[in-house]
Amino acid sequence: MKILAIETSCDETAAAIVEDGHRVLADPVATQIEVHARYGGVVPELASRNHVVDIVPVVRQALGDAGLGWADLDAVAVTRGPGLVGALLVGLQVAKSLAFAHDKPLVPVHHLAGHLHAVFLHRPGEPRPAGPAYPHVALAVSGGHTALYRVETPTAVYQLSNTRDDAAGEAFDKVSRMLGLGYPGGPIVEKLARSGDPEAIRFPQPRFKDGGPRARLDFSFSGLKTAVLTWIKRHAAEGLPEGQARADLLASFQRAAVDQLVVRTRRAAAQAGVGDVVLSGGVACNGVLRQRMADGLAEDGVTLHVPRPRWCTDNAAMIGGAAFAVAERRVAEHGPRHAPEDRRMTAIAAWRLHRPEQVAG
Ligand code: KG4
Ligand code: ZN
Repeated sequence: MKILAIETSCDETAAAIVEDGHRVLADPVATQIEVHARYGGVVPELASRNHVVDIVPVVRQALGDAGLGWADLDAVAVTRGPGLVGALLVGLQVAKSLAFAHDKPLVPVHHLAGHLHAVFLHRPGEPRPAGPAYPHVALAVSGGHTALYRVETPTAVYQLSNTRDDAAGEAFDKVSRMLGLGYPGGPIVEKLARSGDPEAIRFPQPRFKDGGPRARLDFSFSGLKTAVLTWIKRHAAEGLPEGQARADLLASFQRAAVDQLVVRTRRAAAQAGVGDVVLSGGVACNGVLRQRMADGLAEDGVTLHVPRPRWCTDNAAMIGGAAFAVAERRVAEHGPRHAPEDRRMTAIAAWRLHRPEQVAG
């Protein structure tokens, strides 16, 4: 089964063609990083406008790269949410129109279900990744999300925790901005932190006053961000830190952020009694996080699975992959046709992934 997928939830305009949920035949992405870089973060209105400009060429490119026509495709998948509503609507409208015009089923996908699925993707000719066994625990960590999930089956995902304030990627982006370093902050911070001492400054780990079951699994990054800002202000007489002082500050910040992610993920895996963990989302590109997570989980006898870097950040291949299980069911029940409900589908900007049936529809 070949699925054409569209993803426009944030600042990447992406299309892909994915076969049987794992083989990526094409996945062009038009990135808007330069458009938003001068503002230090994503400007929603500019994101929507650029999606409008880029989406049709990107879809054409996906078909061209894969050497396929509409007769070869079985379904259209699209990110229905969560994300910036104006940005989501562009992808959804295009997906609806194409599915209608070419009489294909339209499969809505939750953006996070996409991130969690990225670990199964590969190119034709490359070995298929072993992938995690079910059930497993997954950490989705990006500029918009930091949450733990228990993944029972490809379509039954339960959220175990969430961030109570900022996402981890947002903290990297904001710290980068405080130091006048650029956007997105994650890769810049990681690079500059390499020559720093992660033990130079001890930043505190969050503690929640409530003792609820999620208190030990939830995340918080705003305190860490404020602690970095306080440090910068305390040393303001010397100007913004540079050289070794900046490297030490960034390495210490990164250590604190990574520690928080690793400690809570290990805890969730132990509580759930699983042998596999998936790490996904833009922050999963971070080499220090990957290493410390793999080492920490190995101590517990747990195997870490991380998607290839290209599929860690936002892309449509993960959406086409995650859509497969739902598309198969849909075709089996209703045939390989467009349905009138497909035309009425709306975007869900704040789509919460808390019921299994909500993963992709
Ligand atoms: O998944 P993604 O492309 O978009 C969202 O859904 O948010 O993630 C982008 C986020 C940004 O905050 C970026 O700073 C962060 O991922 N990121 C990193 C690294 N590469 C990207 N954070 C830390 N270290 C990295 N190497
Ligand atoms: Zn994302």
